[in-house]
Amino acid sequence: MKKKLLSVILSVAMVASVLVGCGSTAATTTTDTAATTDTTATTDTTATTDTTAVTTDGTVQVGIVLPTKDEPRWLQDQAQFESILNDAGFTNQVLFSQGSSATEKTNVEALIAQGIKVLIICAQDGSAAAAAVEEAKAAGVTVIAYDRLITGTDAVDYYVTFDSFAVGVAQGQFLVDNAPAGKTGVPLYLYAGAATDNNAFIFFEGAWSVLQPKIADGTFVIENSSEAVKVQDSLTLTRDQEATIIGQITTDWDFNTAKSKAEANLTATNASQKGDVLVLAPNDGTARSIADVFGADKDVTSYKITGQDSEVASVQYVIDGKQSMTVFKDTRSLAADSVAMAVSVLNGEAVVTDTTYNNGNIDVPAKQTAIVVVTKDNVKSALIDSEYYTADQFTGLN
Ligand code: BGC
Repeated sequence: MKKKLLSVILSVAMVASVLVGCGSTAATTTTDTAATTDTTATTDTTATTDTTAVTTDGTVQVGIVLPTKDEPRWLQDQAQFESILNDAGFTNQVLFSQGSSATEKTNVEALIAQGIKVLIICAQDGSAAAAAVEEAKAAGVTVIAYDRLITGTDAVDYYVTFDSFAVGVAQGQFLVDNAPAGKTGVPLYLYAGAATDNNAFIFFEGAWSVLQPKIADGTFVIENSSEAVKVQDSLTLTRDQEATIIGQITTDWDFNTAKSKAEANLTATNASQKGDVLVLAPNDGTARSIADVFGADKDVTSYKITGQDSEVASVQYVIDGKQSMTVFKDTRSLAADSVAMAVSVLNGEAVVTDTTYNNGNIDVPAKQTAIVVVTKDNVKSALIDSEYYTADQFTGLN
């Protein structure tokens, strides 16, 4: 095994020393700043660049672009990528777009310049990312859309995703199953992800597929979306109808937007529209913000609220009874699936897929991973016994 230490200048001020892995030999990247005998890679503090492992000729085999460092969800993915790719012996670099499609494009261009053969990209904006992946494709790079589909282009070779429809169904079904027994007219507040993220549509579709019958028969009453009320008798919605609803209830995947939208909704409604309420929150970060707002309203007697990602802070909220459920999306599986694809591509082997997703232009061959619903009752079996987290990360865990 031939290893050699290189120094690579990363963006403005930082220098990362990296262990080099050549061909099938081990490539190691750590975020440990303490120098060890031969493996040191420091974490870059700028917005875009994190860690890198390169070959002796300075090339990176697999480039990964993730949307933001500001949500724990994507840091979990980063950790999985670095560990799996380094173990597999492939040089890699993870860059973050920090909520900007322009930065995302610059990141893709930087990776192309580093000689990547495979790009794994979770788009900041599924439509805007088309231009960046077209550039990659033109440079001969194989493009794998990660978690979020890139739309309106034929420059996506593969898509690796969780079953996002199942995520939405799980959220909606949780609210149905945990609604106050025997009551009708139960207040329902709907929130969605960012309209620029195709997943936000799929999550909403999944949730709507189980909530809509309960809305149509009067069991639930939508309190915060006049657009959803307009189409409440339709089980199936068009993309435009969904876009209109999401336009009204979007959180933009942003904690502060979620908080202010929830505050505005509770200010606009009266006590009779509160009491024991149900809240569809699209993910954990927004769920915690919205839960805090509902928990502080004196007219809200109780609330049931959904989430997804099983972020540590939300798992604690679930244990504490402040968030009702979350969805465990095991990033180990998703990262492993995309790395397996990348390895097949690099080895010139057939890529294994099990479904397709239409992106408005082509049917993208895809590999889909199942999800697990997490409530107070199964935190331990789902998240601790599976060694995703350790028990000492939480308090009050039985
Ligand atoms: C992901 C979610 C995540 C959300 C916000 C979605 O595309 O599937 O897991 O919570 O983006 O980052």
